Amino acid sequence: MASKKLLTVFGATGLQGGSVINSILGDPKAAAQFSIRAVTRDPSKPSAQRLTANGVECVVADMDDKDSLRSALKGAYAVFVVTNFWEKMNADAEIQQGKNVADIAKELDVQHLVWSSLLNVTKLSGGKLDKVLHFDSKATVEEYIRQIGIPASFFLPGLYMSNIPGRMMRLNPAANEFMLGLPIPGTSPIPLLDTAADTGKFVKCILLNREKSLGKRFLGATDYYTPEQIVDDFKAVKPASGQGAKFSELPTAVFKGILASTGLSEDLQEEMLQNMQLMPEFGYYGNESLTESQSILDEPLTTWKEFVAKTPVWADLH
Ligand SMILES: NC(=O)c1ccc[n+]([C@@H]2O[C@H](COP(=O)([O-])OP(=O)(O)OC[C@H]3O[C@@H](n4cnc5c(N)ncnc54)[C@H](OP(=O)(O)O)[C@@H]3O)[C@@H](O)[C@H]2O)c1
Repeated sequence: MASKKLLTVFGATGLQGGSVINSILGDPKAAAQFSIRAVTRDPSKPSAQRLTANGVECVVADMDDKDSLRSALKGAYAVFVVTNFWEKMNADAEIQQGKNVADIAKELDVQHLVWSSLLNVTKLSGGKLDKVLHFDSKATVEEYIRQIGIPASFFLPGLYMSNIPGRMMRLNPAANEFMLGLPIPGTSPIPLLDTAADTGKFVKCILLNREKSLGKRFLGATDYYTPEQIVDDFKAVKPASGQGAKFSELPTAVFKGILASTGLSEDLQEEMLQNMQLMPEFGYYGNESLTESQSILDEPLTTWKEFVAKTPVWADLH
């Protein structure tokens, strides 16, 4: 049997990278083609230990330290790269991390780089929404990857379904009713992704279909859901607890106040507000259909109803 191609996975201990590893290992065809090298800064953390226990090679590297990336990418045929804006909350740092990996991938002749990207909201909105830095930064790295000419594909995750239970949608104890409160109309289209389960379904097929995928963007979402649909589906799956559940369009000041109470700075409150406004005003994906991106898949994606039924956060609800 021909030897396997090496796939280096950044973010292996996190949601997106972890999903990529699970999908490759769980698919006989992909597992026969690829061996995996997982990157972490801390091999002693439980999520890294679990990978090692499952026979996955773990290497220590830090996207802030370009030299450390050579050992992570040495001999790699492909690489999945995700950066975590929210760790430093600094766009320049995120751009530098992405460029560091891209530079070393180019130097070591990696044949397929899959970058976890997002759109440039400043450009998409003609400058109106110019504070969504964690989107713009990823788009800047995408542009850099295209410019330096690495064979690459771009995976653009939708809004995480896991952001909703207990966070965007919570029990209002005074009314004993669940409320989804967002600063946008209830008819706004929100592309939702079950990140842990479904990132890997896309990335696996992108890797297995390299020729078809090179240079392309893949919009990573199950569907566009409106806030009203999100609430209705919740009520359908949890009819007892969901009674009276509502969507509420929050005034911007109230939305920012909620974020302020979690300690988010004024700049980041504005960033999150504009991130929300993007969806009704210009579209999270510039109003593009998901059909072409999904045509590469070989297994179904998780619906919001299925996610509601399985999420541990709402396991006690009926
Ligand atoms: N929430 C949403 O709705 C949404 C939607 C679209 C995109 N996103 C984007 O998703 C990204 C986060 O991805 P995720 O959810 O998969 O992250 P996550 O679960 O929080 O995990 C972060 C991963 O990044 C790795 N990492 C962080 N800094 C690193 C560094 N300097 N060098 C090497 N590895 C590093 C961590 O590895 P170790 O700690 O093990 O080293 C960890 O595996 C963010 O940039 C966010 O903007 C989020």
